[in-house]
Amino acid sequence: MTQPLLEARDLVKRYGGVEALRGASFTVHPGEVVALIGDNGAGKSTLVKCLSGVEQPDSGQILVDGEPVSLDSPSAARGHGIETAYQDLAVAPDLDPAANLFLGREIRKPGLLGKLGMLDKAAMRTEAREQFAKFGVSLPDLSVPIGALSGGQRQSVAVARSVAWANRLVFLDEPTAALGVVQRERVLDVVRRVRDTGIAVVLISHNMPEVLSVADRVEVLRLGSRVARFKAAEAQLEDLVGAMTGALAQEDAD
Ligand SMILES: Nc1ncnc2c1ncn2[C@@H]1O[C@H](COP(=O)(O)OP(=O)(O)O)[C@@H](O)[C@H]1O
Ligand SMILES: [Mg+2]
Repeated sequence: MTQPLLEARDLVKRYGGVEALRGASFTVHPGEVVALIGDNGAGKSTLVKCLSGVEQPDSGQILVDGEPVSLDSPSAARGHGIETAYQDLAVAPDLDPAANLFLGREIRKPGLLGKLGMLDKAAMRTEAREQFAKFGVSLPDLSVPIGALSGGQRQSVAVARSVAWANRLVFLDEPTAALGVVQRERVLDVVRRVRDTGIAVVLISHNMPEVLSVADRVEVLRLGSRVARFKAAEAQLEDLVGAMTGALAQEDAD
């Protein structure tokens, strides 16, 4: 096996009296799609927050390329090429898709106009068109506010936004939870395209058929710890459900 790109070892995270992570471990190799699954409250979002610099674990180790790192802010994680799209769709409904893609990283006009805060909308639109094409996000019109698009299109933009800036790994926390079947397929196509560009994807999902159709591997969290790992090609639906519910125990390898 290759050296993991990102690894969590024995992470503990407490919120007051609640132990959200109780010695959780997690591994992502370069270029793979890993599904992170578990029941509600298993600690999935907390783990993603710790691995993307949003929260700091109380104890445990995080390694990038085998070296211990401290991800004390989202920008520290970004510095390692790690981006995150959160569960609640973080798009600005009044802005167009290009402006959403560049939210917080706007391109300014060259020279004085840029120093005065003037944005280079043409440059952003050109770059946005390329990024959307690269990830197979098809939008009818790049100039309408994103609030006027369908849920699936909005979510594809949200995913593309994280992916466009990630150069090694992107976390997608339940990107398809609020979507219908057709829209969900579209987002999954984006995930596959991202993987094809060599960027690793960690997909959190409740949808087991979806997990098995898109992931290379599956890691299962239960009550704040990793309880099982599977190769998606070798796993059955019952294995995943059994591990999530605790009916099927599999010793953690580490
Ligand atoms: N900010 C917080 N404050 C208090 N408790 C939290 C907070 N975030 C998560 N928790 C608790 O930690 C546990 C794990 O939550 P979470 O990571 O959101 O699980 P999942 O994403 O798997 O549903 C739950 O019991 C949840 O209520
Ligand atoms: Mg969650």
